[in-house]
Amino acid sequence: MLEELETLYQKSLQSLQQADSTAVLETWYRETLGRKGSVQLMTRQIGQIDPADRPAFGKRINQVKTELQAAYDGRLAELKMVELEASLAESALDVTLPGRPLPQGGLHIITQTLRETYRIFGDMGFQIYRSPDVETDAYNFELLNFPPHHPARDMQDTFYTSKPDVILRTHTSAGQIRAMREYYPEPVRVILPGMCYRNEQITTRSSIQFTQVEGLAVGKHISFADLKGTLTEFARRMFGAGRQTRFRASYFPFTEPSAEMDVSCFLCDGAGCPVCKQTGWLEILGCGMVHPTVLHNGGYDPEIYTGFAFGLGPERIAMLKYGIDDIRQFWNNDLRFLQQF
Ligand code: DAH
Repeated sequence: MLEELETLYQKSLQSLQQADSTAVLETWYRETLGRKGSVQLMTRQIGQIDPADRPAFGKRINQVKTELQAAYDGRLAELKMVELEASLAESALDVTLPGRPLPQGGLHIITQTLRETYRIFGDMGFQIYRSPDVETDAYNFELLNFPPHHPARDMQDTFYTSKPDVILRTHTSAGQIRAMREYYPEPVRVILPGMCYRNEQITTRSSIQFTQVEGLAVGKHISFADLKGTLTEFARRMFGAGRQTRFRASYFPFTEPSAEMDVSCFLCDGAGCPVCKQTGWLEILGCGMVHPTVLHNGGYDPEIYTGFAFGLGPERIAMLKYGIDDIRQFWNNDLRFLQQF
């Protein structure tokens, strides 16, 4: 019996050393030192031994238990260490390393240009007025003095919807009537920013979707001088203090008289360069005195009230300011372009 015990002891020690994971080690423990393990079973056989040999056997089996337990504890600690090291190597987490920086976002160049525009007009007392992208023919054309079939409609190729009167606005001027009807009889001093849509061929200079900022001032005694002063101040703040402006006669159905404003080229200072096509001037926006019919449609008596309006394109302003030569860049989502601003 004592011999069997020694064999069991040696075998158990051997298989303990061969256990190569904590999982295998747990099985070893259950099968050896556990309640139904081999050592425990042998303890129970003490009754079959010659009473004279029992004390020696009992003593030895207790030693075996203690030694196996100690060997198990040592092996367990060893294997836990090995497994921890393996898992550390695998996930390679070093909490002392500095964190990885997240890529930083930024404002789109058109958003920046819009905000700059808001700031300048805001300082002059203009409020931002929001009006819808999806418009009726009435607001976009008819109430702005474009009668049906008027040739001026050809200036703006329109996206139509399945509802005959519902279109995508071709310009932010559509919001003028909405603003006047809401403000009447108070004076109006608003800018209307937003997306416009035209069914145009896409080129480097035109796209089917672009932003505009409309301006509208209505009140008593508003004159063309107010228009010129306001827009010249805008040009100086947007393009630099020394800028000159000039107003060329133009045509829009909703203004009379109508004009286009040029600003002296800020690249060559008026001397002539490729950007201003050797003219010394850059065309910036359309403007004019609000047509009496439009004032009337907005609810204001044109005998008492006058007003001015203008419409500018942030894409064009950004293209001039930053020397961007293709309008499609704005909506291509190319980070190499966007990150420059
Ligand atoms: N709506 C015009 C366009 O898209 C721009 C414009 C011109 C707006 C003159 C105005 C204005 O308010 O007075 O071409």
